[in-house]
Amino acid sequence: MLALFASAIGANAQNLDKGAAVFAAQKCSLCHALDGKGNAKGALDEVGSKLKAEEIRQWIVTPAEMAAKVKAERKPAMKAFPNLPKEDLDALVGFLQSKKKK
Ligand code: HEC
Repeated sequence: MLALFASAIGANAQNLDKGAAVFAAQKCSLCHALDGKGNAKGALDEVGSKLKAEEIRQWIVTPAEMAAKVKAERKPAMKAFPNLPKEDLDALVGFLQSKKKK
């Protein structure tokens, strides 16, 4: 039981690392910042408190629709990342979901 629990935590931490790696590899920081690194106009440090996982996913896959919905006006507009493998997308969404107000 304990071992199971420990390995679940391990898997989770690993996924957060993977999500962070995807965030870096996709150059999200050209337009967004985390922990003061990247483009400060688009800080995502509290995005996990603001948006649901499903909304974060929609921003990544269909940003034009989301921008229209919330009337986002910052330029350049976000481009879509429709070709991320599911695992990468899941890890990225999980990673951003973990960025909550402290
Ligand atoms: C070309 C610039 C650009 C790139 C690259 C970009 N975004 Fe965005 N993103 C935006 C803009 C503009 C918005 C609209 C909201 C705003 O003004 O910050 C936005 C909004 C978001 C939001 C909603 C934020 C909120 O506070 O509601 C999330 C989540 C997000 N982006 C994630 C990502 C991720 C993850 C990546 C990399 C895979 C990425 N973005 C790459 C420009 C970009």
